Amino acid sequence: MRTETLKTNPKKPEPAKIRKAARLIRSGGLVAFPTETVYGLGADALNADAVKKIFVAKGRPSDNPLIIHICNKEDLGTLASNITPMAKKVIDRFWPGPLTIVLKKSRSVPKITTGGLDTVAVRMPKNKIAQELIRDAGVPIAAPSANYSGRPSPTAAEHVLEDMRGRIGLIIDGGRTKVGIESTVIDLTSDIPLLLRPGGVTVEELKKVIGRIRIHPVIRGKRSESVHRSPGMKYRHYSPDAQVILIEGTKAKMRKKTAYLVRDLRKRQKRVGVIAIVKAEYGADMERFVGADKERFAAVLFRTLREFDSKKADVILVQAIPKKGLGLGIMNRLEKAAAKKVRIR
Ligand code: TXA
Ligand code: MG
Repeated sequence: MRTETLKTNPKKPEPAKIRKAARLIRSGGLVAFPTETVYGLGADALNADAVKKIFVAKGRPSDNPLIIHICNKEDLGTLASNITPMAKKVIDRFWPGPLTIVLKKSRSVPKITTGGLDTVAVRMPKNKIAQELIRDAGVPIAAPSANYSGRPSPTAAEHVLEDMRGRIGLIIDGGRTKVGIESTVIDLTSDIPLLLRPGGVTVEELKKVIGRIRIHPVIRGKRSESVHRSPGMKYRHYSPDAQVILIEGTKAKMRKKTAYLVRDLRKRQKRVGVIAIVKAEYGADMERFVGADKERFAAVLFRTLREFDSKKADVILVQAIPKKGLGLGIMNRLEKAAAKKVRIR
């Protein structure tokens, strides 16, 4: 299959291009498109045959459910069987935006879309291309991140092409995505909301609107959780080819340990990349300084992992940030990517 890339203006999407992509969705095909978080791989969420193609193209396990994207808050009514008062509050405050809510599903949503679960995950993206694509298609769009299963999520059309060339027909190229990590996923089916994935909307922001919130133990670093409310949790994810080593501790200690590891690894003929929040001359083969700005860290994280991979890094050293605000989502992705955590206290 030839993969076409359609360059599209993210501020004023050309209607003819959106129409072409929408037609493909309506006819049961796949389209990769930008959202404000990462690129998604979309299909008609209510068409089981179309959704099946997503799982095949991504190499995704069939029990890992998809997020359904809508362009009107009202469309939630056709996907969820019960929109709780809590859900209404959250939607009012955070949609459109990087927040996915999980509710009991309605009968119109095929089981394949929800990975066999009786709940459904829905979000309304903020990106203009995404919104107009959904509107023009006239159907809700199921879309996981457009990476090959297990790879870092794509934050630019080139990344989608890297993973999906020959596997899908069309990519809408709307430039780099803003947020850089995926949406926050929150389960609203029980009395106390349960955070399933930290992401673009922070826990602190959520708490201001809904008060109490439980954080899934897996996010807190507990490994042996038998019940997985969100099947995505159990899969290795966000992994570049290189080995990722996470370095924690005070700034002074992180700097020292990073410099030491770079020297040691290079002595052993390894190619080393560093993602640093502490500025120093580490002498690595590739370095990216992100500083303490969490928004910037999130925006460049996946892109940097891919870039270092393409430059054949054997090891990527990443300095940790506090798990506050966006930091919780960033560290969650890094912990999943990291094979080894080097703690310095
Ligand atoms: O920012 C995002 O959310 C991006 C863009 C494209 O919208 N999408 C995305 O989708 O990250 P994906 O498939 O890569 O991640 C969806 C996550 C998975 O961890 C999945 O297990 C969880 O959401 N999920 C989906 N439906 C669920 C459900 N009914 N119950 C619990 N978790 C669910
Ligand atoms: Mg994903």
